[in-house]
Amino acid sequence: MFLKNAWYVAAWSSEITTDLKQVIVLGEKICMYRDQAGKIVALEDACPHRKLPLSMGRIAGGNVECGYHGLTFDCSGACVAAPGKGRIPSNAVVHSYPVEESYELIWIWMGDPELADTSEIFKIENYDNADWGINRGAAMEIKCNYKLMTDNLLDPTHVAWVHQTSFAQDAARDTPLTLSKNDDGVVVHRWMMDVEPAPFYKHIVQFEGNADRLQKYEVRYPCHALIRSIFTPAGTGGSEDALHKDAFVMDSYNFMTPTTEDETRYYWFQLRNIRADDDELSARMSDAVKGVFEEDIVILEAVQTGLSEERNPHIDLSIDGGPLRFRRELEALIVAEQQSGAAAEA
Ligand code: FES
Ligand SMILES: [Fe+2]
Repeated sequence: MFLKNAWYVAAWSSEITTDLKQVIVLGEKICMYRDQAGKIVALEDACPHRKLPLSMGRIAGGNVECGYHGLTFDCSGACVAAPGKGRIPSNAVVHSYPVEESYELIWIWMGDPELADTSEIFKIENYDNADWGINRGAAMEIKCNYKLMTDNLLDPTHVAWVHQTSFAQDAARDTPLTLSKNDDGVVVHRWMMDVEPAPFYKHIVQFEGNADRLQKYEVRYPCHALIRSIFTPAGTGGSEDALHKDAFVMDSYNFMTPTTEDETRYYWFQLRNIRADDDELSARMSDAVKGVFEEDIVILEAVQTGLSEERNPHIDLSIDGGPLRFRRELEALIVAEQQSGAAAEA
């Protein structure tokens, strides 16, 4: 059960070259490559003749030639050549997915191509702002359903237990969360006032003493998250407007692409409002965040197994308000999409 009419991240830009590559999104195998002009092409990865993956074929003049008998497809998925000078059957066609390259990511539209609108791609504020630094992340393969990750990214409380040497602090255990919903998704946030900066941030923030800390976790449909962290000198927090000049802001971008029901490919990076050109800091932050996310992976993969083996129903807690709300809203979108698809077919 996935939302089809949505943009998902299919790959980092650097992963797609002029060689054919298979990527899997929502359980669909896709053959991707760059054409001679460098433009991304994404075709259904199954030749209509005997279903050999096209990614096992070769590129011929910007088209893809099947590696078995040479049926050849252009970037629109139309067959332009058949073996033995044979007639091209009218059903010799493969689906071509709308794709867009932005923020050094390849975005793919998995639903009705007529509905693909690139203006709906997740906007990354400050990506091109020279005053902001970036620490680039990885693509991590995680053996869990993507909704366990959206749960996790609407759950600031877990940091107190899972990330004890990095993001944790006592106030993260029990400071109440505020939940809100907007057209794009669900947000939970809280300010923790007059607290010592958590270990990960202690040597990054540019002021001494205690801080007011914002944790703001936002997940947008279908599975994209922006986690904003602010540390500002104690007494100056409480609002994101008119931040103190020494306030440290880190926006963590998280794109969770379901490869199958049980596996997710996780793309991430962070933008920060200080020391934009400090490569050493960027590298240190990337390493530290990778370590933190590896802690999540251990938990999430074990939770996936635990839930699949549950003998008694699992329970919910008050901290689950954000994750449950997001799941309900996403489910409603998926049902509405499937009903409108069924109505269109009737
Ligand atoms: S399987 Fe592709 S041409 Fe035969
Ligand atoms: Fe985490």
